[in-house]
Amino acid sequence: MSIDYKKEINRLKDKLDVTVVAHYYQRDEVFEMGDIVGDSLELARKSKEATSEWIVFCGVGFMGQSVKVIAPNKRVLMPKVACCAMARMIDSSYFDDSVQYIVERGVPKENILPITYINSDATVKSKVGEMGGYVCTSSNAFKIIEKGLESGKKILFVPDRCLGQNFANSIGLKSCVIGVGDCDPKEADVICFNGFCSVHQYFTLDDIEFYRNRYPGIKIAVHPECDPAIVQAADFSGSTSQLIKYVADLDPEQKVAVGTEYNLVNRMRSKNTFVLSSTKPECPTMNETTLEDLYIVLKSIEDKAPINEIEIDEHTAKYAKLALDRMLEIK
Ligand code: 13P
Ligand code: SF4
Repeated sequence: MSIDYKKEINRLKDKLDVTVVAHYYQRDEVFEMGDIVGDSLELARKSKEATSEWIVFCGVGFMGQSVKVIAPNKRVLMPKVACCAMARMIDSSYFDDSVQYIVERGVPKENILPITYINSDATVKSKVGEMGGYVCTSSNAFKIIEKGLESGKKILFVPDRCLGQNFANSIGLKSCVIGVGDCDPKEADVICFNGFCSVHQYFTLDDIEFYRNRYPGIKIAVHPECDPAIVQAADFSGSTSQLIKYVADLDPEQKVAVGTEYNLVNRMRSKNTFVLSSTKPECPTMNETTLEDLYIVLKSIEDKAPINEIEIDEHTAKYAKLALDRMLEIK
């Protein structure tokens, strides 16, 4: 007999001391099961405040890790320990190499302040925390970079070169990307690691031109993980929740094409809201989590044999927490 996953998930949620958390990029049927939904910043804040013993996090690995770091007493499980492709592009040794690259080009280590996008492994956040740095998300990167600059130091921004460059451009700072062209750290304010999100690279200037030709007056709204040329050509750039608000605040007759992950844009889609792509820009790892996975992980709690639990060693957790807490303290 086949299992009615929705019914079983609801039964388990009623029975267990658990909060199900889901990122906006999750498949619709998984997203609908979330007790807490949001973008990565909202989920970090709200999960910390959840009163349940168990958090079941439907998202990608760095998100579950972040909850475990900021709320170490909670038991955090993930239906799929799926890893964000961008977060995979840097580990702690690449981080050390990046610091070394800058030092070798004449900037002393004590003049470098690292900031890591939340899309990174806990070991990278830990390195950043040890050096006095911050975590940021796409919602608060602007504030955090400005805060970082108050130190008078150069910013090492990892791992997303696009986010780093887009924010540097938006406030008229000089940036460069390690290993690309003649990146001279002495001349740059923000030195970016060469990582990127493959999903947000789908959006092209041709897509923007296509929509502008087809619907004169259309607005183009994109996530700051898109290439700087795309962000510059767009009418608006913002994090997931900022994009949702931007579209919701438009006149209902205003056409808008949105350049970010497919599941989210598809949920917002209307006769005037379009996906800014001729492809289907789904995040493969966000899409890995299914209702069956969510059921299995909840059942494992009921059966007292929890699976896919996030565990982080003491040293990593201690310094990653410093970097995350520094971010959370900034309102
Ligand atoms: P948000 O911070 O906007 O939730 O983005 C997370 C992410 O992975 C975007 O690709
Ligand atoms: Fe990572 Fe990109 Fe997926 Fe976001 S959309 S989780 S940055 S791979």
